[in-house]
Amino acid sequence: MIELRNISKSFNSGTPNETQIFENFNLTLNEGDFVTIIGGNGSGKSTLVNIISGSMTPDEGDVFLNNTRITKMREHQRAPYFGRVFQDPMVGTASDMTVIENLALAYGRRRSRSLFRWSYHMSDVQTFCDDLKILDLGLEERLYQKVGLLSGGQRQALTLLMATMRNKPSHARIKRDYVRFTNGNKKGALNTFNQAFVTAKAKYVDTKNEIKNNKALNKEIQKRLLQVAFEQFDRSIRKFDLTKPVLLLDEHTAALDPKTAEKVLEITEKIVTENALTTVMITHNMKDAIRYGNRLIMLSQGQIIADVSGEAKKKLTIESLLKMFVVHSKNDMLPDSIILGD
Ligand SMILES: Nc1ncnc2c1ncn2[C@@H]1O[C@H](COP(=O)(O)OP(=O)(O)OP(=O)(O)O)[C@@H](O)[C@H]1O
Ligand SMILES: [Mg+2]
Repeated sequence: MIELRNISKSFNSGTPNETQIFENFNLTLNEGDFVTIIGGNGSGKSTLVNIISGSMTPDEGDVFLNNTRITKMREHQRAPYFGRVFQDPMVGTASDMTVIENLALAYGRRRSRSLFRWSYHMSDVQTFCDDLKILDLGLEERLYQKVGLLSGGQRQALTLLMATMRNKPSHARIKRDYVRFTNGNKKGALNTFNQAFVTAKAKYVDTKNEIKNNKALNKEIQKRLLQVAFEQFDRSIRKFDLTKPVLLLDEHTAALDPKTAEKVLEITEKIVTENALTTVMITHNMKDAIRYGNRLIMLSQGQIIADVSGEAKKKLTIESLLKMFVVHSKNDMLPDSIILGD
């Protein structure tokens, strides 16, 4: 859950160019909400997402992630909890690295630059292929090609996947976040985690000894069985991993042709629903804002002028949205692309 409480933000304070974009702004995004955000140029959409991700600090007010205040947490510290995709397909991926290297980077297997090529495990390759198949773009056949060779749409789809893969957190981090983000009884949460950890670890150690002492097994099979035993142990700890990344999309299909944009949006929806990710998607396209997500927010000059969710959202039409905009907006202009729905 994300909460923005009493946020104020201005730019160029004390100069003739001062812009106060937010004043006592409040917003709560529930776990699993897929929110589309629409509004005229300069209405504060990107600033809102920047404040959530930590790339901008509010002048006043607080940001909460799962009831924990993260206002002072720096952007890089928040990175494990957020995935971002921007308008420019060049931004999210490294052109001179291969598809698999980009994925490995996102997966957090990277150790050092010079060792980088070797720093993903062969067992990850299958996972990466399975992930890429979800995109249905044939990228699983192009693992060892440079990303610079991909089209804009393919790159955005890959960025989307990378944004949701997140660094694989260590067991220590899972424990810390489990306790940190548990509402209420933190001591109880710590006990629950520790007990589960000790039980799983003991089971893993037993299995490990059994495998090592079994002389009937050859080295290769022993190695494989040890790996399976570790993966089992690892999985039982990962059940405690509470922090799925919140996906922040800032017009991520705006630079694509309409057909590719549609494909990337379909992929977005698939990834978001399959992983039940809390998502904020800024779009300039009313049709898309209506079609995707369970909640729609319209901004005008830093204020929420419409917040429609559930059944009411399903009933929205471009006409009804335009009407809301005309009635409530504070004279900011809607871009033609919104009105024409291209
Ligand atoms: N770094 C900055 N320095 C100065 N002013 C800024 C900065 N970032 C945003 N602003 C101003 O804040 C206001 C909101 O900008 P923001 O980028 O959030 O709008 P937006 O809704 O994303 O617009 P667009 O649809 O054009 O992307 C604008 O008036 C903008 O000029
Ligand atoms: Mg913007």
